[in-house]
Amino acid sequence: MKITCIGAGYVGGPTMAMIALKCPHITVTVYDLSTERIAAWNSDKLPIYEPGLEEVVFQCRGKNLFFTTDESAIANGDIIFIAVNTPTKTYGVGKGHAADLKYIESCSRKIAELVKSGHKVVVEKSTVPVRCSVAIRKILSSYASSTSTATFSILSNPEFLAEGTAISDLSNPDRVLIGGDQDALGLESIEKLASVYANWVPDKKILRTNLWSSELSKLAANAFLAQRISSINSISCICEATGADVDEVARAIGTDTRLGPKFLKASVGFGGSCFQKDILNLVYLAQCLNLPEVAAYWETVVTMNEYQRRRFAEKIIRSMFDTVGGKSIAIFGFAFKKDTGDTRESSAITVCAKLLEEGAVLNIYDPKVTMEMIKLELEYLISDERTRKLIATNVKLFDSALGASKGAHAIVVLTEWDEFITANYAEHYEQMVKPAFFFDGRCLLDQRQLQSIGFQTFVIGKASPALRDEFFYGN
Ligand code: UGA
Repeated sequence: MKITCIGAGYVGGPTMAMIALKCPHITVTVYDLSTERIAAWNSDKLPIYEPGLEEVVFQCRGKNLFFTTDESAIANGDIIFIAVNTPTKTYGVGKGHAADLKYIESCSRKIAELVKSGHKVVVEKSTVPVRCSVAIRKILSSYASSTSTATFSILSNPEFLAEGTAISDLSNPDRVLIGGDQDALGLESIEKLASVYANWVPDKKILRTNLWSSELSKLAANAFLAQRISSINSISCICEATGADVDEVARAIGTDTRLGPKFLKASVGFGGSCFQKDILNLVYLAQCLNLPEVAAYWETVVTMNEYQRRRFAEKIIRSMFDTVGGKSIAIFGFAFKKDTGDTRESSAITVCAKLLEEGAVLNIYDPKVTMEMIKLELEYLISDERTRKLIATNVKLFDSALGASKGAHAIVVLTEWDEFITANYAEHYEQMVKPAFFFDGRCLLDQRQLQSIGFQTFVIGKASPALRDEFFYGN
């Protein structure tokens, strides 16, 4: 069997590498139109950082895993995956909410143009709105002509891997979801794809559904995960004001087996390329279906996230005597989570932009993020001309945490990298301007320990030590 995949990004690359690893009898070819990206996949320095990925790619590349810009390779696949991005639309109808499907459409057209005969299983791997497969099907069938006898089945097979743990998620998934038409050909196609995963995934973990359930489940799963984070973040605000401790509350909630302990870590807000995009996509879908209450319900998950980011940045500014202009602030972490160099939708962008707006000097340290990415993200978010100019002068990247905190007034933890847990903060404190502040946006550190070193602290979801013995309720 041959598999091809269009899109060599965070999903296409690792997923195809895992299929190649687990299925040595299958030839897997990943196509992308970016020559730069394909060159990187074919080099010693892969275009994305993901623990364990290099080992898998290096083991299979050139044997049964190939990366190419040659589009003619696409038609060779018996199964053709579409793994291109579907970002939130930034223009036109649905701007700010709807998924931009232009890449899905161009891929479908490309497949239709290139495949002239045989039966192909086309798999939506990208996250798409429900019923997107209708559009793909229409495009594919509209190319049928005297010169093409090709036929197609469309499947939905959303990806549930998380960045930073992609390889373990792929090798041991909670489930594999395959949706398809419920007629004979559809069911046969589902089984064809299931037989690929069956090389390493137990059959009881391979869920078969209709197309729409599969498409919707992906959006719903991300919305539910993000909702948990917004829920615990909303509780973190109450904790700070009352003296309850958000980690203790999360533990107490999470031991209820009906709820479970995962995704209850309060933070400066969720980031990443998926949660916000997929919720907005769901909101737009609900609006289109004339379900305004449903749309409003899910939109609050994003609103809460934006509030959490904003209030964290404002807390920093207020705590530092309402003036951060010209002060160096050490930013620990810029990626949207640990173990990835990905900065898309990272809460660090919003927090840094706010501090920059106030004229702060940002000494950024992140073990995996480049200056180029930081600048791109800030330039994308900041529209105000005055603040944009500060990106060139006030944003500095350091190659160590100690370098970043030297001479700084504050440390701000924005990504939960392990090294921030084990750092020697007494050493940092020594070289900082006093009073030295510590703002923990990831609830990583023991507030009392930091205070015993001498830091003025703020940790999300923990009361300030100055909290008086007050009874607020009803005031
Ligand atoms: C997410 C989902 O977890 C995957 O299942 C899904 O496949 C993927 O989106 C996708 O649609 O492609 P990802 O965005 O890579 O994966 O990373 P997560 O581990 O989900 O983290 C998302 C954000 O939430 C991060 O900023 C993380 O720091 C934050 N988070 C996570 C919290 O603030 N608290 C938590 O308890 C968990």
